[in-house]
Amino acid sequence: MNAVPRSFYITTPIYYVNDKPHIGHVYTTTICDVAARFHRFLGCDVFFLTGTDEHGIKVEKSATDQGVTPQEIADRNAAEFESVMGLLHMTNDDFIRTTQPRHTSQVTTLVARLIDSGDVYPGEYEGWYDEGQEEYVTDTKAAESDYKSPVSGKPLVKAKERNYFFRLSAYQDRLLQHIDACPGFIRPEARKNEVLGRLRDGLQDIPISRTNFTWGIPVPGDESHVIYVWVDALMNYVTAIGLVDADLPESARRGYWPAQFHVIGKEILFFHAIVWPAVLMALGIKLPECVYAHSFWIREGRKMSKSLGNFIDLPTIQSYTDRFGLDAWRWFMATQGPLGATDADFAHSKFVEVYNSELANTLGNAVNRVSNMINRYQDGIVKPAVAPDPADFDWPGRTAAHVADSIDRMHKLDLSGSMHAALSIVRDVNGYIDVTKPFSVAKEPERADELATILYNCIEAIRIASLLLWPALPQKMEAFWQRLGLSIDPQAGSLTELAAWGGLSADHRVTTGDPLFPRWKEPEDE
Ligand code: MSP
Repeated sequence: MNAVPRSFYITTPIYYVNDKPHIGHVYTTTICDVAARFHRFLGCDVFFLTGTDEHGIKVEKSATDQGVTPQEIADRNAAEFESVMGLLHMTNDDFIRTTQPRHTSQVTTLVARLIDSGDVYPGEYEGWYDEGQEEYVTDTKAAESDYKSPVSGKPLVKAKERNYFFRLSAYQDRLLQHIDACPGFIRPEARKNEVLGRLRDGLQDIPISRTNFTWGIPVPGDESHVIYVWVDALMNYVTAIGLVDADLPESARRGYWPAQFHVIGKEILFFHAIVWPAVLMALGIKLPECVYAHSFWIREGRKMSKSLGNFIDLPTIQSYTDRFGLDAWRWFMATQGPLGATDADFAHSKFVEVYNSELANTLGNAVNRVSNMINRYQDGIVKPAVAPDPADFDWPGRTAAHVADSIDRMHKLDLSGSMHAALSIVRDVNGYIDVTKPFSVAKEPERADELATILYNCIEAIRIASLLLWPALPQKMEAFWQRLGLSIDPQAGSLTELAAWGGLSADHRVTTGDPLFPRWKEPEDE
């Protein structure tokens, strides 16, 4: 098992305020939330950051269209993103906004340093510009996409600007060396190979200032330019922890750097795995430990897009949390999501299938069966396991192995593996009940001790599983703890001690209640 890291800093991308929250934002944030909760429970000092990316031409244009200031748009939409975090019970420790003075002041300092060191220099740039994406496209890429934006389909425009450039080309070799020396720096493997390919093709210096709009942070010393949104945005990862300003209260968080994980989507890999590390190298700041780029959710086998109007938006997400519960939604995100190299399909039938098989039939069923038997046969009291186990099952050994596996996988951000390791303990319980048949043993009063042992083993195993499952299923596992009369504080960081076999003392009273995960039946078609 890996040692528990002392501190654990995990970030989501900061989200554009010109978009409405949808599954993409919710997914990345949920993954980070599950990992953050798990690591807090393990006793790590966790800092989980999310926020909004508020500058740029798109926000300026929307403001002009709506006759309001860009700041008003940013305030309104950032508030919406922040409320979504609350609605979905995200446990982010801060919410950074790129229009906050704590951010802008430090970005100015950092860019001034880059100008001083010569890593940022003035020059002239001419190239194909994708207005929607606010980025220049190389000549080769422009030709490949028939001089249209691969994202919006709108024609690329030939633009010429005097710009400040970042000397990205100077970092190509150092980036290659770093990736070679730190195999876990870019994950998963397929994304690392993508970045390596891009590095081998050669890097060009990139313009990092704009003059065609004003909604941004001015370039220090040349107010006619604003800093490119991507450079501004990437710096949030260090401004939120006051890395460059000892006078800010945020500087108390400096010890969190370097971050353990920048979790992002695959489409923003170039910025996070090439531009950001190169900027950090130029500034003499350590690199994050891992840039983890997940793939995309598609819906019912089709890519989600504005034109198809098939985005899983907030109302759709809420229709799932209303029907199945927030934990069921989190479970699907955590265990079925595209953390690997391929996209994942959000199909309604798959959601129902996973819900019924894993949550209703496996976990919910085990909790109900065991609690009901303890109530029916032992007046709701957990009795000590004094008799030998009739199945001679190595519960302490088996659970310890699953616990270690679940923790180890979570350190690597293998959420599905971690949760399924925990669920294996519950599957063991269901199998053990089938073998030991406590409902038959209960018919013979002289076998009461044997029955007590069986039921103790079952409830104790479920208790241990519930600890590991809590980060994905916090509400339901807390409800289960309540039924068991346990007061557990996951913030207290004692997961490993609590997960040791035998922690549940006898004489606990188990109450029963409504099924934690009622089986889902599709309403009949009208
Ligand atoms: N502002 C930039 C990030 C700056 S970070 C320094 C940005 N913002 S965004 O609002 O567009 O981010 C959207 C997030 O949602 C990204 O992590 C992206 O990968 C994710 N998703 C968008 N659509 C998605 C899916 N269909 N599936 C999963 N996630 C996807 O980019």
